[in-house]
Amino acid sequence: MLTTIAQVGQHVGQEVRMGCWLYNKRGSGKIQFLQLRDGSGFIQGVVVKAEVAEDVWEKASKLTQESSLYITGVVRADDRAPSGYELNVTGVEIIQIAENYPISLKEHGVDFLMDHRHLWLRTPRQRAVMAVRSEVIRAMYEFFQQNGFFKVDPPILTPTSAEGTTNLFHTKYFDEDAYLSQSGQLYMEAAAMALGRVYSFGPTFRAEKSKTRRHLIEFWMIEPEMAFVDQEENLRIQEAFVSHVVQSVLKNCQMELKTLERDTTKLQGVTGSFPRISYDDAIKLLQEKGSEIKWGDDFGAPDETTIAEHFDKPVFITNYPTEIKAFYMKPDPERPEVVLCADLIAPEGYGEIIGGSQRIDDPELLEKRFAEHELSEDAYRWYLDLRKYGTVPHSGFGLGLERTIAWICGLDHVRETIPFPRMLYRLYP
Ligand code: 4AD
Ligand code: MG
Repeated sequence: MLTTIAQVGQHVGQEVRMGCWLYNKRGSGKIQFLQLRDGSGFIQGVVVKAEVAEDVWEKASKLTQESSLYITGVVRADDRAPSGYELNVTGVEIIQIAENYPISLKEHGVDFLMDHRHLWLRTPRQRAVMAVRSEVIRAMYEFFQQNGFFKVDPPILTPTSAEGTTNLFHTKYFDEDAYLSQSGQLYMEAAAMALGRVYSFGPTFRAEKSKTRRHLIEFWMIEPEMAFVDQEENLRIQEAFVSHVVQSVLKNCQMELKTLERDTTKLQGVTGSFPRISYDDAIKLLQEKGSEIKWGDDFGAPDETTIAEHFDKPVFITNYPTEIKAFYMKPDPERPEVVLCADLIAPEGYGEIIGGSQRIDDPELLEKRFAEHELSEDAYRWYLDLRKYGTVPHSGFGLGLERTIAWICGLDHVRETIPFPRMLYRLYP
């Protein structure tokens, strides 16, 4: 039976056998230190010439970076080792000697690394990001399953847009036109009318010609949708949800956050309720700081950062002008020029991680919006049905997975948060 590096703590003093790759090696004519990795972690194997059979020493000497092997050794607890354990090597079985591995342990440029993303993933930093991503997804599912939500899967191929027509990916669906989903929301609204509280998680696509550190062409979004939930309760659920995810990563990914050199003190405070600022007040705040922004403008990334700097937790910006938000958002009954929506802005300049709102529940107002937004009534007839047959107040939101991971991991760019990023002008590998 093979053990994994993550499990060696259960085998102190015993001999174990593991499948692994050589990450790095140093040593002398008498002793070799093998840095081994198997995906579950990293461990140092020590080969002492005087203590092993001659062929074991020779096989260890032949190992190059990223060679694959089975290693046998006795586990030893060692406080100085980053993982807390070391392996006294007793046997080496080579699977393959890797030749001329392109990613050396020196620094490389971003383009080179992106072209070798399939190999770059093996480095400790990239592995740590992927492990955090996995934990974020696990914690998200946990939160919704524990709170009475059903997981529902909306389609990816759709006949219409959900978030405006400017960035749709077009494809043919036999003789019809189809588009890759920008958001599962409209379908999740139908699901909420059937199941009450639902969430989806899947890839979404936006043909955005933006080349920024926050934009991907293909990104993953979690989209809860809830019947009988108003704007206030929607924000409460978002606070509890984001806090649960951040606290789970802090608890379960300590080693990874250390590898990433993340200052976790800022994450520890992400609990309880989050500050809120209205769109109106956010505009005033920016104007006081000397910005030329005026009421009715959308915020750019630098504006979001300026606003976020005033708070040490994620901050909700609420009630944006109706004009600049999606057609389905419910106007504030007291002030129809703004909608009952909120964007959640991450601290430390990581930008918008959630967009959400209460939805229009009045069929007549929805029809009026179709006309204003030049949306074909034919294509959206089913969506209008949701308001004709037992309409109820309902709300939902979408959290962008990659931006959330960039924030939690403290990464400058979303390209490292997804295994194979699809970006403007990058479809390889
Ligand atoms: O604000 P957005 O566009 O909202 C929606 O799609 C709603 N239908 C969600 C809902 O209410 N069910 O997108 C939601 C989030 C953003 O806050 C951001 O985190 C992320 O998705 N996002 C992107 N992430 C990476 N690259 C892009 N191009 C993104 N566009 C949006
Ligand atoms: Mg948004």
